[in-house]
This record gives sequence, structure tokens and C-alpha cells, in this order.
Amino acid sequence: MGIALRLEQLSKTFGERDAAVHAVDAVSLTVDEAEVVLIQGPSGAGKTTLLAMAGGLMRPSAGRVYLGDTELTALTERELPAVRLRKIGFIFQSANLLANLTAAENIQIVMEAAGLRRRDAKKRADDLLDRLRLKHRSDRLPDKLSGGERQRVAIARALANDAALLLADEPTANLDSRAGYQLMHTLENLAKEHGKTVVAVTHDHRIEDVADRVVWLEDGHLSDRRPELNETATDPVCGMTIDPSRAAGSRQRGGHTLFFCSDICLDRFDSRPDAFAP
Ligand SMILES: Nc1ncnc2c1ncn2[C@@H]1O[C@H](COP(=O)(O)OP(=O)(O)OP(=O)(O)O)[C@@H](O)[C@H]1O
Ligand SMILES: [Mg+2]
Repeated sequence: MGIALRLEQLSKTFGERDAAVHAVDAVSLTVDEAEVVLIQGPSGAGKTTLLAMAGGLMRPSAGRVYLGDTELTALTERELPAVRLRKIGFIFQSANLLANLTAAENIQIVMEAAGLRRRDAKKRADDLLDRLRLKHRSDRLPDKLSGGERQRVAIARALANDAALLLADEPTANLDSRAGYQLMHTLENLAKEHGKTVVAVTHDHRIEDVADRVVWLEDGHLSDRRPELNETATDPVCGMTIDPSRAAGSRQRGGHTLFFCSDICLDRFDSRPDAFAP
């Protein structure tokens, strides 16, 4: 089995000097073909930033991204879009379908962008919708679909150009648990039956079972220590008990990680860390 995605010492800094935010800090990660990897971590940990760099949507401040043998970070701005279109499928928290196109047309359009003839694109869109058990919805506009159906159309769109790598940012966030399971099993099936590689960001503990691996991102760093499912943390500012993977943010302090319930507590901590640190 080959390597689908390799991140090498990837970093992203927003802003400069005093205002600099190290959103992702020297993260290395290797994902095998047909592997399903979930990325978890508190809000602001850098998950979306990491995924955007892995998919060539954002340039890293430092480090390299390899898609198979292709170094994505070595491509020029002119070369990047075509590679992205053919090799990577994106699925976001909301399906981001074009509102005035039907389900089928939303899928067709990305194939036509890649140069496929309209007739072939239409046929393949129908096949994909069939595979995702949405054939009966192909002529519907997005606002006449359920949230789960919209997300499956988004998956079909991500598969349209036969990308080997699917990157998903909180794909189940707006779904109830039944639709969430169905979506994740669809992704699992694409990996196990069709050899797709799936990297998904999620806060959703319910769907961990479909993953081959869960990695934990905290304050821009990949961490070996992932909180247990039932593990709780205490917000040092307000004293509330919280789930680390749903925390509003985290800070490193004296070798410990502190988790915060909300931005309000995070701001209070940042303004006077010594008053709250253990
Ligand atoms: N365009 C930007 N400009 C400045 N700062 C940014 C930008 N995008 C993200 N950040 C900052 O980088 C850090 C990581 O953000 P990111 O969106 O990657 O977090 P996340 O883990 O996806 O959080 P969430 O779970 O809330 O989606 C945060 O501190 C955020 O404020
Ligand atoms: Mg995010």
C-alpha cells in the first residue's frame, strides 16, 4: 500500500510580530492509501488550517505537502487549480451546493470544469448519485433536499473527477446522528471498497469507530496524548467541567494543557494567565 498524503513540518502563521498566531506549528503526518484518519482537537487548534494546506487551498508558511509523489507545495499558482480539481475532493461542514443548480448539475459542473464533455459528465453524475443512493433526487434543487442528502451530493461532487483523496471539514456537524452515521459509513465504504483516502476533521465522537486512526491537534501541534472519550477537563477560569474536544480553545502552561469552555474564559485567561494557571 502506498502513501496518499504526506505532511512534512507544516506550519502556518497568521499576522506578524506581536499579533502573530501560530495556527499550525511543524505538523508532520503520513496517511496511507485507503486509510480513514480523523483529526480532532479543540476549537482554534488549527484543524481547518491544516486541512486547507493539505488540500492546496492555502499556502503554508513553512513545510511541504506531498500527494503521492507530487509535491503540492512546489506547484505554481497556475498549476495548482488543475491538480486540486482532479486529485482532491473537498467536503465542508455545509454542503456549499450552488442553489440554482440541481443535485446532478452541481456534480456535472466540476467535471465540465475538468474538461469532460457535457453528455459524459451527465452520465457520470447519474452513476455517482445512484451509488450514493440519491438517484431519485437528481433533479432536485438543494433547498428541496435534506441536510444528509445535501452532504451526500457534496460527496458525489468530491468524487466526480475521481480524486483519490477526500478531505472533509466537520462533514457531520449539521446532521442528526442517523444522517451522521450514514455519511461516515459512506466515507468508510469509499475507503475500504474503492481505495479512497479520507482525512476528516470532526468533533463528533459518535463516528470514531469508522476511523483507522484518530489524531489529536492541540494549539497547532499534533499530540500523542489524546483525551479519553469520557475524560473531562476543568476550565481554570470558571471551573466548569468540559469535554476537551469541544473546548473553545486550549493553552499550554507549565507542561499542562488547559481547556476553556468559551472565548470569554479564554480571553480572561490570556489577559492574566498567572491568576489562573495551576
Ligand atoms: N485567516 C486567518 N487570519 C488570522 N487568523 C486565523 C485565520 N484563520 C485561522 N486563524 C486562527 O488560527 C487558529 C486556528 O484556526 P482554525 O480555523 O484552523 O481552527 P480549528 O481547529 O479549525 O477550529 P474550529 O474547531 O473552531 O473550526 C485560530 O486561532 C484562528 O483564530
Ligand atoms: Mg475549523
